Amino acid sequence: WGVVGHRAIGKIAQNHLSKRASAAVKDLLGSENLAMVSTYPDEIRSYKQFAYTAPWHYVNLPEGLSYEDFTMQLKTMDKPNIYKAIINCIADLKDPSKPKQDKIFALKFLVHLVGDIHQPMHTGHSEDSGGNGIKIKLMRKEGNLHGLWDSGLIDYAGMSYNELATDCDIINKKKTRNWQKDELSKWAFESYQITAQLYAEAAQNPEFDYDYYPQHSEIIKKRLAQAGLRLAAVLNEIYK
Ligand code: ADE
Ligand code: ZN
Ligand code: ZN
Repeated sequence: WGVVGHRAIGKIAQNHLSKRASAAVKDLLGSENLAMVSTYPDEIRSYKQFAYTAPWHYVNLPEGLSYEDFTMQLKTMDKPNIYKAIINCIADLKDPSKPKQDKIFALKFLVHLVGDIHQPMHTGHSEDSGGNGIKIKLMRKEGNLHGLWDSGLIDYAGMSYNELATDCDIINKKKTRNWQKDELSKWAFESYQITAQLYAEAAQNPEFDYDYYPQHSEIIKKRLAQAGLRLAAVLNEIYK
């Protein structure tokens, strides 16, 4: 996601923290909050000393896998990827021997990466760098499929991250199913299934017109809401 998407997720999570988790987050972040730190990993990834974190933002797997095969490949992958990175962030936050600076770093990455794993194009194909190589047009404006889903559609909606977070929380209140109980590989598999649909649509006709946003806005808001709630649940579990 871009800045607005990540901050909306941070804001939703911040709203759903328990008292203990909220105090623990405040102790680590000081005057900052989850919304503000959510974009930190994108701000540092282009610096040479942080180049090793670039593969943490996504995972690329072949198309058409069942949930079982997908989960197996995800869990046994050698290369650094978003799934491994999230697990490491959680472990660092739980580890009493880790210095505070390491925990701050892990928390900033956790907020960001739980967001990214819910962005469908972050589980895309390696050949096109998760849709970065797929040229599309949105209402005659040129772009690529990855960027469209990171920020193009959210920018088109013209909402602030606070407005977007409020909108997503309204969707969330209507939900009866418990997103917070799903496991990490399920979050990734949901993205992976949406990705297949997005690639297929772009292959059929890469020139998207004014219907594309209303046709996909519910998916975007659902993914932002799920990311925010699940992030809060992870933090509430760490600081229970
Ligand atoms: N961003 C940069 N490379 C990527 C990839 N291969 N998949 C998803 N997102 C990416
Ligand atoms: Zn990212
Ligand atoms: Zn992205």
